[in-house]
Order: sequence, then structure tokens, then C-alpha cells
Amino acid sequence: MKPLAPRRSGDDSRAGGSAPAQHLVAGQFPAVRMRRNRRTGWSRRLVQENHLTVDDLIWPIFIIDGNNKREPIAAMPGVERLSVDLAAREAERAATLGIPAVATFPNIDMSVRDATGSNVIDPDNLINRATRAIKAAVPDIGVITDPALDPFTSHGHDGILRNGVIVNDETVAQIARAAVLQAAAGADIIAPSDMMDGRIGAIRKALDANGFQDIAIMSYATKYASAFYGPYREAIGTSGVLQGDKKTYYIDPANTDEALREVELDLAEGADMVMVKPGMPYLDIVRRVKDTFAVPTFAYQVSGEYAMLTAAAHNGWLDHDKVMLESLLAFKRAGASGVLTYFAPMAARLLKA
Ligand code: PBG
Repeated sequence: MKPLAPRRSGDDSRAGGSAPAQHLVAGQFPAVRMRRNRRTGWSRRLVQENHLTVDDLIWPIFIIDGNNKREPIAAMPGVERLSVDLAAREAERAATLGIPAVATFPNIDMSVRDATGSNVIDPDNLINRATRAIKAAVPDIGVITDPALDPFTSHGHDGILRNGVIVNDETVAQIARAAVLQAAAGADIIAPSDMMDGRIGAIRKALDANGFQDIAIMSYATKYASAFYGPYREAIGTSGVLQGDKKTYYIDPANTDEALREVELDLAEGADMVMVKPGMPYLDIVRRVKDTFAVPTFAYQVSGEYAMLTAAAHNGWLDHDKVMLESLLAFKRAGASGVLTYFAPMAARLLKA
């Protein structure tokens, strides 16, 4: 048996980021039959390399004002906007299913939105009220909140818009203040999704200065200027108001080295965990980030991904439960520590059974 030649740089292994397997011997058919290990269920279980469990799931939920209110989201069948009381009840249900954490996203009343997103720094805004209610109902579920401005601005951008420009440093100052208020309301993890430069360091500093040194930061470090966010914008009511696009602050979908640089900077500024977003079309980024930095790396299976799979399943073109679980397992194979997914309760129920 002859040793395999080592893979040379310039192979596809570089782009994928993972080290090539070093096979000591090159076996050959008919001595080698790969199907032997796949022949039976018990054997397939023995050789299974990656596993999806409920511990991998973070459930994003949409919050609205009012009481005992649920609203459907047209492009996300099976997902609803929930009033604070119902969000607390659903969080309880999620905890019973074993889901470790929820991530909240508010649909702020249009009358409250303004050019600078000032409602984000109201201690009693919708997101902070939801955090308090969820924490009161289920202290043991993790609550992840986002201090980005887009739900709060009249123009739908993640930052403050002045003369056609999203101003970085002023936005960062506002986001850091919002993060402190979210921590004060009981958030366990601050997860800024805005992609402003320097925000992680500013948030870390502000949290520490206010006694929140134990509150973690999950950075949306590699957030792409993607078209897969469409249904989310319907869900939080920014699709109708968004002016232009987010290309001056999110990453170009063509780039991958730039994503590594973003992660490096955010870790240096104090991020405890990082995230890749969107998910499925960006599994190569998950793998590169995990291999390069070996830190907790999450993926966000975004609204458009949920919409695609759900629409095909509703048409009878795909098996809903099977593609859902396969898509989530793919994140584990790519190296993700966990996944933010609207499928979380459905997947948790299947994984428990
Ligand atoms: C913006 C934000 C986005 C998502 C969450 N927060 C993207 C956007 O609207 O540009 C997308 C989530 C999803 O599509 O599921 N800060």
C-alpha cells in the first residue's frame, strides 16, 4: 500500500479552511468497501461524526406591543409576532423543550421610530420589557438581545443616518448605551448585529463600567449584505421603510478573508462568541472561522432560509422535518457551536422524541 501524496497548498483545502485528512495508507477496492460501515443502523450510529441536539438551538422570537396578541408573518409560515406576555409563555415552553436561549427582536410601533432610533435607549422600550417578562417567567433560559438600531429607526438602517451616511462613532455610542440598558433589564448576552466598527470594544467598556462585567457579547462578526433577510424585515416592519441598502456596513457576499478580519477584530475587542450570518449559503465561512480561531462560533439560519425550506415543504416538494434536521446538522458539520433558527421549537420536539 503506497502512502498518499500530501495535498499541496492551492488545493481546495485552503478555501475550505479545514486541514486535509492525512490517510496513512491508501486502501483500495475490493479490500476497502466503504459501504460496510453504512450497512446497518447501529453501525451508522457508531461511526456518526456529528450530532445535533437541543443544546445547539437558539430561538429568535419577534415581539409586539399589546396583550395576548399573536400575528402571523406572511413569508414565514409557522412563525408569529408575540406580545410580551405570550413571549414569556413561549419562552417557558422553549425551556421545557430544553432550548438553552431565545433571541428577541421587537417590532416597534412606527410612531415611536425616529431618525436616530432614540427609543433604543428607553429603559422601558419593548425589547427591555420583553426581557424582564421572560426572565421573571423563566430565569433559567438565556436571553440574547440586540442593541442594533434598525427596529427603532424611521429609515430602517442599523445606525444613525446623516446626509445619506450611516455615521459610525455616534451610532456606536448609542448602541453601547442601549447594551447597558438591555443588561440592566436582565439580558444574559448582548448580540449586536449592526456591523459598526469598534462596537464590541465600546459595548464591553460600557458594560464593565456599569457593573455588567459578567454579561457576555455574541458578535454578529461576519454579517453579510444578503438578500436572505427579506422576511425578517417584514416581521419587524422595516421592509417598507428601508432606504437603500446596507452595503456600506455589512460584508460583500463575495468576500471571505474580510470575514476573518472582522472576527479577529471583534475577538480582540472582547467578543465571547461570534456569529456567521446568513447560515446555509455561508457554511464555508463557519468552517474557516472555527478552524482559524477555535472560539464558540454560531450560525444564523436566517428568515429567507426558513422561508425557502418552509415554502417548498408546504408545496409538498420537500419533506419538512427531514430537510429541517438535515439543514441544522449541516451547521454542526461545518463546525458551528450552535444555530439561531426559527425552527428551534419544531426541531427540539423532534430531537426529544
Ligand atoms: C438587522 C438584522 C437583520 C436580521 C436580524 N437583525 C438583517 C437586516 O434586516 O438587515 C436578519 C434576521 C433574519 O433574516 O432572520 N440588524
